[in-house]
Amino acid sequence: MKSIRCILLIAALVSLLLVSCARSSQDRSDNNRPTEDPLSAGQALYQAHCATCHGVEGKGQFPDNPYGPDANDLIGAPPHDPTGHTWHHPDVVLVQITQEGRSQPGVYPMPAFGDKLTESEIMAILGYIKTWWTPEQIAAQATASAQFTPSVK
Ligand code: HEC
Repeated sequence: MKSIRCILLIAALVSLLLVSCARSSQDRSDNNRPTEDPLSAGQALYQAHCATCHGVEGKGQFPDNPYGPDANDLIGAPPHDPTGHTWHHPDVVLVQITQEGRSQPGVYPMPAFGDKLTESEIMAILGYIKTWWTPEQIAAQATASAQFTPSVK
């Protein structure tokens, strides 16, 4: 119990640190030492590769009915915002889905990005997606990521 609280606290501190790093690198943006802000890189990559399906603000392909079938009887790309399910998955799983894509009956296919994006680009995109989550979701997902041990490697 104590260790879970400790992990949650660490996760919350790490996300605070990330937010303040992002802010301070923005503050430095007008001196002559331009820094590549991973959050804005992630945002640009998300908008270029993911937003067409998952929505500019991560509200999903069909924001009015994100988990309902459309006229073709297919469910669209799900939201990545707090209403979605994305935050339930540890980073390893989210990276894997993005690299390999996913295809199942009754749902539009998710394309594979393994040959288009590097793992660190995908992690930058995930970092941007995480800015939409609540602090509780960020902490829970960080705990899941820390505890996850892949069963097959
Ligand atoms: C052509 C449309 C399309 C594009 C572009 C797309 N996706 Fe998807 N994505 C989908 C669909 C449809 C699903 C649901 C697939 C399923 O569940 O079988 C999905 C599911 C996912 C999931 C699983 C979510 C969950 O809750 O299980 C993740 C993570 C994801 N996409 C990330 C991304 C990222 C990151 C990008 C950009 C690099 C991206 N997607 C681009 C259509 C797309």
